[in-house]
Amino acid sequence: MAGDKAVAQVWASRWVFILAATGSAVGLGNIWKFPYMTGVYGGGAFVLMYLLCIALVGMPVMLAETIIGRRGRHSPVVSLQHLAAEQGASSRWAYGAVMGLVCGLLILSFYSVVAGWSLSYIIDMGKGTFSGISGEQAGAAFGALTADPVKLILFHTVFMLMTAWVITRGVVAGLERALRWMMPVLFLLLLILLGYSLTTGHFMQGVEFLFHFDPAKVSEGLLPALGHAFFTLSVGVGSIMAFGAYMPRRAPVGATILTVGLLDTVVALGAGLALFPIVFAAGLEPGAGPGLMFVTLPVAFGNIAFGQVMGVVFFVLVAVAAWSSSISMLEPAVAYFSDRHAGGRVRFTWLLALVCWVLGIGTVLSFNQWAELKFFVSGSDGFALWAWGVEGGKTFFDLVDYLTSRIMLPLGGLIFVLFAGWILGRAVLREELEVQHPLLLNGLLLLLRVVAPAGILVVFVTELLK
Ligand code: PFF
Repeated sequence: MAGDKAVAQVWASRWVFILAATGSAVGLGNIWKFPYMTGVYGGGAFVLMYLLCIALVGMPVMLAETIIGRRGRHSPVVSLQHLAAEQGASSRWAYGAVMGLVCGLLILSFYSVVAGWSLSYIIDMGKGTFSGISGEQAGAAFGALTADPVKLILFHTVFMLMTAWVITRGVVAGLERALRWMMPVLFLLLLILLGYSLTTGHFMQGVEFLFHFDPAKVSEGLLPALGHAFFTLSVGVGSIMAFGAYMPRRAPVGATILTVGLLDTVVALGAGLALFPIVFAAGLEPGAGPGLMFVTLPVAFGNIAFGQVMGVVFFVLVAVAAWSSSISMLEPAVAYFSDRHAGGRVRFTWLLALVCWVLGIGTVLSFNQWAELKFFVSGSDGFALWAWGVEGGKTFFDLVDYLTSRIMLPLGGLIFVLFAGWILGRAVLREELEVQHPLLLNGLLLLLRVVAPAGILVVFVTELLK
């Protein structure tokens, strides 16, 4: 991707950008994380906060990243350095992108473990392990998987190898070709799952859970919703900025990113609408946490006609959706290091993948051997950085998830949106946005300069005061 010189190639059309950005955005965040977070944070209030955060903060940050990338035409760190110099601003702005690439690596470390669960489920689905299964049995099957560190490490390793392989071979184009048909199939299977959840007799209960707004639950879910809006749109890391560097000069940026955001939101809501009726019908717990999808889907596929085949296809698609996202997490870091040391791309890819792999072991162990190891514990005996076998606190997985989604992504997003809004300046933005109508231009400027930054700050402050 972007070297130290400006990128030579530009994508054939904005559709390729849409495909790549959607490939990055749609992933485990939509199908695995969104439903389980909605369950944990109590339903409708979380969903409403999430949608507001997408519209008022996430989309403006995506706009900012795309503009910076397209104008900078380099890897994120170098783009920010160049643009800052061009505007006479401090090169320290580029630290935002440095933090972003570290954040991408941290996310990849646990993302790969969860993607590994999907790989394991492809095999179990294929073997017919889940046919006729009840909710309770599905819970036990998931428990058995996560209790087995060797198996988890094996699948984590396979997924990490797949990710690094694509980056070293530069077969991103091949993946794009694959995404062209995989995305529609994923939509189709979600529709079939929705059809199944309509027959469970609990569909309305699912709808009620997702869309019933309970004001009492707002404050608890606010920061999680903001963090998840960033996570699901892949913003705050620099991934979208890296893709923006390949955008054709003349392409309507606003309409393009709106398409990506809409597709991402539709998949998340579709997954939620499909899952929760099944959760209620099978007598499962909506607040079950990270295992929610892996317990719910086997019940659905285990009890419908052709469920075995559809289940295999579904988990293959989940793995591919995760694959196209994981590549975009690693790419900014690889691009940065190979910018600095020419010719080392392959070596850096393997090295960075190894770092993520080692960190991922911590996530693997959070679900078994280290389940009792808790970080940031505050209890009656005061605060401890870590402790063993206590109530509360965060497991290693929780800790990495918390640091990335709740702190680093919003902070990275804040830096990018402030840079685009205030440093690039009005004339540049008018040129990049290509909007003629002054009202629309002012509206977009207001989003970039005021609404999105204020939104992030308000959520942070609210969280601190809680
Ligand atoms: N957006 C991806 C998902 O929803 O699964 C996750 C992700 C990809 C986060 C790329 C961050 C990133 F840079």
